[in-house]
Amino acid sequence: MTLATAPTILENAPIPTWFRVGGRADRFCAPQSLPELHRGLDLDPALRILGDGANLLVDDDGVPELVVSLKAPAFQHVSIDPRSGIVSAGAGADFPRLIHDTVRHGLQGLEGLIGIPATIGGAAIMNAGGAFGSFSDHLLRVHALDRAGRPVVRERRDIPFAYRHSGLNDLIVTRVEFQLIPDDPARLRDRLKECMAYKARSQPLASDSAGCCFKNPTLHAPLRLPTGEAFDAGARVSAGLLIDRAGCKGLAVGGAAVSDRHGNFLLAHPGASARDVIALMREVARRVHGFAGITLEPEVVVWSRYPEHTLRPASP
Ligand code: FAD
Ligand code: EPU
Repeated sequence: MTLATAPTILENAPIPTWFRVGGRADRFCAPQSLPELHRGLDLDPALRILGDGANLLVDDDGVPELVVSLKAPAFQHVSIDPRSGIVSAGAGADFPRLIHDTVRHGLQGLEGLIGIPATIGGAAIMNAGGAFGSFSDHLLRVHALDRAGRPVVRERRDIPFAYRHSGLNDLIVTRVEFQLIPDDPARLRDRLKECMAYKARSQPLASDSAGCCFKNPTLHAPLRLPTGEAFDAGARVSAGLLIDRAGCKGLAVGGAAVSDRHGNFLLAHPGASARDVIALMREVARRVHGFAGITLEPEVVVWSRYPEHTLRPASP
């Protein structure tokens, strides 16, 4: 048992997510220091870490585990060394803000990830990314705690990063370090604008969603769609394209609907429940399987007290 101040525990607290639907946490806290986080682990070693809630769907009945936010200043500290390119960022720091700051300091490496709402911890766990790079590309190391509260430092080469995968899910990320590359701030600002414009053009960024709900599947065999479009074995196909071609755009269950703009964005309209989104995800996956013979795997992380509502566990 750690001798430290216990974090203030709120009961029956809302869990803010970008979907803006779903249930509450039986217990919620925002530790103000590392010792308080340790105390949280003493209270519930199975605690769940909430980042920005941008890839999260909380079931309507909420969750029994202690939900922990690392958004207190103690976990948001950022340091940027423009000469060496070394950047250190706390797990609760805002990722888009960090990207702007690194660009302002003339450091190249993160600008392609603009438009991805996240905390540093959430982006590390998900290995967030897209057409213009991944979180892991310029990472040096991750600092974390294991569930027994022991500090862990993982060098990048020891982390099994892959597409939307970090293998860090059992850890509590507390801080990361990047090695960025000095570059011309004006050039980086232009690149930032280009990448943001691509996202804004193709995605419904102003609606309530968790971004793409499904991962893009890698094909085990060549695929020819009824539309005539063909993809080679080994290719990673846009799940949004498959959802679109399967005719799901505009499909709705209760208040949840498939975006007209990007098929992989499922939107929660006012009045939607988390169960509406889960039911819509199931229906979309069923239709894509019927249309293309492809099984879509969820990217969104679902928290529930009932295993049957989680679709499947969070990213392995
Ligand atoms: P959360 O959603 O809060 O949590 C996600 C998972 O990480 C949970 O399992 C949580 O427990 C865990 N977690 C969070 N912090 C920690 C920590 N410190 N330690 C341990 N576990 C932790 N994603 C992309 O990859 N590319 C995109 O282009 C993209 N575009 C998006 C656009 C929109 C409009 C939205 C709403 C989402 C988009 N997403 C995208 C999804 C989302 O932004 C990313 O998955 C992001 O990394 C989620 O970070 P978060 O802090 O919100 O994590
Ligand atoms: N497309 C369609 N219809 C759609 C959606 C896409 O025809 O409804 C087509 C596009 O026209 C394009 C192709 O599919 O030719 C690829 O589309 P896009 O560039 O939008 O990329 P994506 O593969 O669908 C991925 C990520 C996004 C990331 C973008 C851009 C996944 C699951 N999605 O989408 O990440 O922002 O690339 O980098 O990997 C997320 O993970 O939450 C997310 C939004």
